[in-house]
Amino acid sequence: MVRAPGLHPEGHRFESYITHMKIISHSEQETFNLARKIAQKAKGGEVYALSGDLGAGKTVFARGFAAGLGIKRNINSPTFVLMKIYPVRANKTIKHLCHIDAYRLRSAKDLTAIGAADYLGKKNAICLIEWPERVKNATKKNKIVVTIKHSNKDQRIIKIK
Ligand SMILES: Nc1ncnc2c1ncn2[C@@H]1O[C@H](COP(=O)(O)OP(=O)(O)OP(=O)(O)O)[C@@H](O)[C@H]1O
Ligand SMILES: [Mg+2]
Repeated sequence: MVRAPGLHPEGHRFESYITHMKIISHSEQETFNLARKIAQKAKGGEVYALSGDLGAGKTVFARGFAAGLGIKRNINSPTFVLMKIYPVRANKTIKHLCHIDAYRLRSAKDLTAIGAADYLGKKNAICLIEWPERVKNATKKNKIVVTIKHSNKDQRIIKIK
């Protein structure tokens, strides 16, 4: 496996739309930077399913993504509130970042119950869903699956498709 282009600060260019990639991240910072770069290419309407075990780095990814959208506020796992909406001010199309922790949800219906339908797949929003397995079939449109796997210590294998 190769170190992915774009992970180095002065690295090679990224493809215009990042999909079907396998990346090795060696640190929290690298995961953060990867997500930040992906966010900078976001068009609006994307739904990111962030899949991975406890402590894999889903929230780190969400933080980097938020930074890439110019969000300055602190991002934490919305474990108890289930969904958090952050205003995006630095983008023409994207106005909201919707961060969902589906760990405590039981089906896609629960997503509607918490008000996520206002954001899922909407052009003026990006959704990041932690524990997407809990809400299978939440959306098919514009879905990007990011799988983060523990490799060793600070190393993670990140697949995007
Ligand atoms: N390469 C890496 N990428 C991301 N996080 C890493 C990496 N190496 C170590 N870490 C650490 O792993 C932890 C990831 O925590 P994070 O909260 O993002 O996990 P999570 O997948 O959101 O877990 P949860 O399911 O509990 O919400 C952090 O403590 C981070 O510092
Ligand atoms: Mg988390």
